[in-house]
Amino acid sequence: MSAQDKTGVVHVYDDIEELDNHLPNWWLFLLWITVGFAFGYWYYFHTTGEGRGSLEVYRAEAAEAARLAEARKPKPDSDAGLMLLTKDSATVDEGRQNFQQTCAACHGLKGEGIIGPNLTDNAWLHGGKPTDINKVVNEGVLAKGMPAWEKVLGPQRVRSVVAYVLTLKNTNIPGKAPQGEPEK
Ligand code: HEC
Repeated sequence: MSAQDKTGVVHVYDDIEELDNHLPNWWLFLLWITVGFAFGYWYYFHTTGEGRGSLEVYRAEAAEAARLAEARKPKPDSDAGLMLLTKDSATVDEGRQNFQQTCAACHGLKGEGIIGPNLTDNAWLHGGKPTDINKVVNEGVLAKGMPAWEKVLGPQRVRSVVAYVLTLKNTNIPGKAPQGEPEK
């Protein structure tokens, strides 16, 4: 069988005959599309520095998420931040110990009041909001015999003691009669 016996153009190499068919247009079309795409891809990701790899995208998103989570956390000295501390039993326990050592002499072992007011009722001389209590404990009411604790205890122990005092609110332990305004 020679090449001329076949219809169409044939080439023979090493005794193997092949028709010189054109590649189908759809196939060529796809080929050139992918070649074009490869150039575009290379240009975008490797030349301009514009395209970011998935790892870079992931790192950027993770950093942004961490930043947002940090921003959403309530500030430690805000009402919400102090209330959050009351949910942490280690902090409240620490606060109870500090209270019994430093505050009980005037406020009673359970906060029921002696010289200082009852801290377990609903009435407050200086406000019952977490930030109000935090302020009184930090700055004291020196003229009325309540010392300032900020320098003595430091921020960590003040916060824990405030968290503990917040857990006493409205537990109404019998002791000194309510003083001040009932908290709304
Ligand atoms: C030397 C006694 C004394 C000690 C110790 C003391 N307090 Fe007081 N505290 C007082 C007096 C007196 C008042 C009332 C101040 C007033 O009349 O304005 C007071 C008020 C307060 C108030 C405000 C109560 C209200 O009705 O608004 C809080 C809260 C408080 N003390 C927490 C503490 C904490 C917490 C400690 C320990 C870190 C502490 N105190 C230690 C004497 C004391």
